[in-house]
Amino acid sequence: MKKLFIKTYGCQMNVYDSGRMAELLAPIGYGPADAPEDADMVILNTCHIREKAAEKVYSELGRLKKIKDARGPGANLTIAVAGCVAQAEGEEIVARAPQVDIVVGPQSYHRLPEMIAKISRAGGHALETDFPALEKFDALPKEIAAHGVSAFLTVQEGCDKFCTFCVVPYTRGSEYSRPVLQIEEEARRLVAGGVRELTLLGQNVNAFDGEGPDGADWSLARLLDRLARIEGLARLRYTTSHPRDMGADLIAAHGDLDALMPYLHLPVQSGSDAILAAMNRQHTGDDYRRLVERIRAARPDIALSSDFIVGFPGESDKDFEATLRLVRDVRFAGAFSFKYSPRPGTPAAAARKHLPEHVKDERLQALNALLIEQQDAFKQACQGREMDVLFEKPGRNAGQAVGRSPYLQAVHVDGAADLIGAIRRVRVEAVYPNSLKGSLLRDKALAH
Ligand code: SAH
Ligand code: SF4
Ligand code: F3S
Repeated sequence: MKKLFIKTYGCQMNVYDSGRMAELLAPIGYGPADAPEDADMVILNTCHIREKAAEKVYSELGRLKKIKDARGPGANLTIAVAGCVAQAEGEEIVARAPQVDIVVGPQSYHRLPEMIAKISRAGGHALETDFPALEKFDALPKEIAAHGVSAFLTVQEGCDKFCTFCVVPYTRGSEYSRPVLQIEEEARRLVAGGVRELTLLGQNVNAFDGEGPDGADWSLARLLDRLARIEGLARLRYTTSHPRDMGADLIAAHGDLDALMPYLHLPVQSGSDAILAAMNRQHTGDDYRRLVERIRAARPDIALSSDFIVGFPGESDKDFEATLRLVRDVRFAGAFSFKYSPRPGTPAAAARKHLPEHVKDERLQALNALLIEQQDAFKQACQGREMDVLFEKPGRNAGQAVGRSPYLQAVHVDGAADLIGAIRRVRVEAVYPNSLKGSLLRDKALAH
């Protein structure tokens, strides 16, 4: 058997794609390798979102070249670059790193088996960066392996929003939603394999408008409602959402669907109306505040997380203060904040007023300090609370199991080792930096 090592960068959609690539290559004889050193083929599934992410790929390719060179003729190492850097840079990758054999974009990786056959027959390189999303999902194997109790399922790909800082519309192409029945079939297979929690993925997942069984376009809310009926599927999540696509039915679903977890990632990027406009986000800070109010009215115990960019071109001190104000008003349980990184080909990269690095650094620090304060406050407020925990795996100590709270916090519970895959009511006894400690409420076992 040949051995395959996949290294994944970037977002959850890449994690999903890496899993699908492994499944695609299994029938042609590739099993998992523990490290690139043991592999016959290495796939780097790459991310282009910020400069640092993209640069990592070239340093990794340098490391792989050494492994490849050391093997000499006959004992080859096939190197493939997949994902968003492959899509964005295509031929440039082979020019800059001739050790690369295969370059394959996120919408064409179903062609990997042909590409591997081609280079082993004819040598040279193989490159595919088309956008046949429809064809891809049809071509991927129906069998899908479930690893554990929680799984990702891509339901939507691509983005038509064209935020001025972002490469995703160029690397992932335009918005495409999978048909409802195709998604449901995949969900059922995962559940049959032991999955209890599904996270539906899309670059703009709440713009989902896949074809329903009745031939009409279904919204994400309808899809969630349908999936919530699958026997054995206890929890649903979705990510990432755009504030503009939070429809009334999706907001209502947060109140109506027990399976839909009360934790929502809803990136806002900035609190300044001028910067939001320059980013082409097409909403204001107050639009976001009102939206959050409506979501909280539908589901009072919901917690929010967000993404922020500091140091967008032209961002003044006042603009940045507006971001801090929005954070104080909304209060987030989690967040990712980034320094603006100019990306080739995006409109914002061509702007005139780029900010010096030290200003970006200072703002990132100030924003993070506030966000961490809010995160800590949220965590501390969990002390003493009762929560449902989905147990995922054995803990470090004997008899212990680790599960997830509705808010994706890791919860360690003693005497729960036989509960993997089950959901139980737990009281939070202690709050640690990266996890919670809980105890089972035995008489309140849930009837899931
Ligand atoms: N589709 C999602 C975001 C996908 S990218 C959305 O619309 O919210 C994930 C995050 O990376 C973004 O939310 C943004 O905060 C950050 N990001 C994207 N491009 C960036 C850039 N050029 N510089 C810094 N951060 C960026
Ligand atoms: Fe990028 Fe904006 Fe699309 Fe999100 S909505 S993927 S930030 S262009
Ligand atoms: Fe990165 Fe592509 Fe995801 S750029 S964040 S891997 S969509």
